[in-house]
Amino acid sequence: MAMAVAHLLPQLSAEGNGASRNRMAILLILQLFLLTVLCSITDSALGVDGAASFIFTNACKHAVWVGALHGASSPPLARSGFYLAPSATSSMDAPSSGTWSGTLWARTGCVADPATGRFSCATADCGTGDVACQGRGPAPPVSLVEVTLAAPGSGRPDFYDVSLVDGFNVPVRVAPSGGGGDCRPAACAGDVNAVCPGDLRVVASSGGGVVACKSACIAYGSARYCCTGQYGTPAMCGPTNYSQVFKSACPSAYSYAYDDATSTFTCSGPSSYDVTFCPAN
Ligand SMILES: *[C@@H]1O[C@H](CO)[C@@H](O)[C@H](O)[C@H]1NC(C)=O
Repeated sequence: MAMAVAHLLPQLSAEGNGASRNRMAILLILQLFLLTVLCSITDSALGVDGAASFIFTNACKHAVWVGALHGASSPPLARSGFYLAPSATSSMDAPSSGTWSGTLWARTGCVADPATGRFSCATADCGTGDVACQGRGPAPPVSLVEVTLAAPGSGRPDFYDVSLVDGFNVPVRVAPSGGGGDCRPAACAGDVNAVCPGDLRVVASSGGGVVACKSACIAYGSARYCCTGQYGTPAMCGPTNYSQVFKSACPSAYSYAYDDATSTFTCSGPSSYDVTFCPAN
């Protein structure tokens, strides 16, 4: 819409004396005003500027530090990491043009070392030594929100899911607001830490019980659990006794790499994605 203003400017400079210049200035202001009104009406009606926002809510009893990582061919969001107090909400806009893919997650048990100032987290640390993740992803285990947003105005659907393929640290739900199509929330609302098999548990050095639960792939790295090598196809890599623990706690989340049928969600042009940590179960 910014382009449309350019043709109005020569009228001003081409004017001669003061009176008509004033008249032209008033006309120009009126035109700009009408243009702005028109743009906002058509934009909201057609969803032209329709870039979605991410609205993060921390419903946990403890603080979380949000992490955001953009895909290799997507621009970064305004913030790659930030503190979110219990009950707090904070939002960020997705880019206003082009497709955007990325992952969002919560870090827990974060502290800045009193001596060095280096920031680190008990779970899902991104390794920068800072609250900002600056293009670095989380150390597993981590509950991941994964989104691929279609270009605003394209009419194509977005894809989103909650993935436990890299394990679990915090319950999370991603729910589109508005939009067309299926648009159901994707979530892992259950506390997987409470049902985590003994060999997959992560216990924080500072205490506090089980703080995260590894996936079998992260714990054992085998081709069978990671769906790689000879197990690298959906037909060759079904659920395992480990992935079933995750699936029964969180039926709408990915419990292993090829868990697509029940775990991928679509929505066209929602106004926002509400990402809630520790949603009501
Ligand atoms: C899964 O199966 C393996 C191999 O039979 C066994 O060693 C392991 O204890 C089982 N784990 C769970 C959580 O059932």
